[in-house]
Amino acid sequence: MKLRVFETFAGFGGASFGLKKNKIQFEVIGYSEIDKFASELYELNHPGSINFGDIQKINAKILPDFDLLTGGFPCQPFSNAGKGLGEDDERGQLIWDVVRICKEKKNKPKYILLENVKGFASKRHKQTREKLFEELHKMNYKVVSSILNSANYGNSQTRQRFWILAIHKPLISIDDFLDIPFSSKKVKFSDFLDKHPSKDLYLDQDQCKHLIKKHSVDLNVSTSLCLDIYNKKIKYDESCITLTEPHHNGLRVVEPMNGDDYKVRKLSIEEMFKLMGLSKSEIKTDGFSYYQLAKRAANGWDVTIVEKIFKKILLENGKI
Ligand SMILES: C[S@@+](CC[C@H](N)C(=O)[O-])C[C@H]1O[C@@H](n2cnc3c(N)ncnc32)[C@H](O)[C@@H]1O
Repeated sequence: MKLRVFETFAGFGGASFGLKKNKIQFEVIGYSEIDKFASELYELNHPGSINFGDIQKINAKILPDFDLLTGGFPCQPFSNAGKGLGEDDERGQLIWDVVRICKEKKNKPKYILLENVKGFASKRHKQTREKLFEELHKMNYKVVSSILNSANYGNSQTRQRFWILAIHKPLISIDDFLDIPFSSKKVKFSDFLDKHPSKDLYLDQDQCKHLIKKHSVDLNVSTSLCLDIYNKKIKYDESCITLTEPHHNGLRVVEPMNGDDYKVRKLSIEEMFKLMGLSKSEIKTDGFSYYQLAKRAANGWDVTIVEKIFKKILLENGKI
């Protein structure tokens, strides 16, 4: 029987991609997404799914039953980089709609997989976190959580995210279900870069000289590296910083000089999605602007990790 999935806060559909990569038989009974471009990108990649729209307006009674609910609920209210208003920010309350939908469903989904930034695990948001776990416990879910860093799983990106897994009335202990073994594969930032990047991604020489002056960085490198503009650092360990939305983005690629010319550029869309676990052949992006795609990639689930989580929960365990 196919796993029935309800993908909330769907974005580009990181959950569906993770299931596909594991060749798990599943059907999306619906998804919830309010952003027009995210929804169009979702449908281009996962055609035939119904968007139930704003999660706050979803009537659980008209939702078909599902076995797995996934949701990377909005992270801005819990991010250490932002104001950290938590539930005082309206977006910080959307998690309660996930709880409400599960409460209203007579047939509880067996699995709930949620994700947010590392800040959700901080002391500041302890009350929200504990209330969430308590609400899940009241519905007979066992809950485990863990901060997972993409850099430990065959990705050169440092991306720390807080994962919460809840399983309804499990028959076995789920305590180690988010203990995902580290990958032994050694990867470098340059492994994720295009062989022939487009010319329009490059900064001009004046912009490079401005970077050197303003940030005191040495742009004469011997291999392609990540430049972290905000922290004024080149990542000589060949890792790369977290992808963030284009308007906060301080990530640049520094390539070896061409004679006297500096070579510094933005990431291409293909490179961004590769850093989110999807190769060019795995995600369709035709018809969307650089800005829209960069935003989706930065907000998405790292499929490298999602794939491993689903493998562990759905394939490596017997009856739960
Ligand atoms: C952090 S992103 C999740 C990304 C997704 N996990 C992925 O793999 O791409 C949060 C998403 O929630 C959506 N969103 C925000 N408010 C919403 C609401 N009220 N109902 C449904 N979706 C919402 C945003 O548009 C955004 O795409």
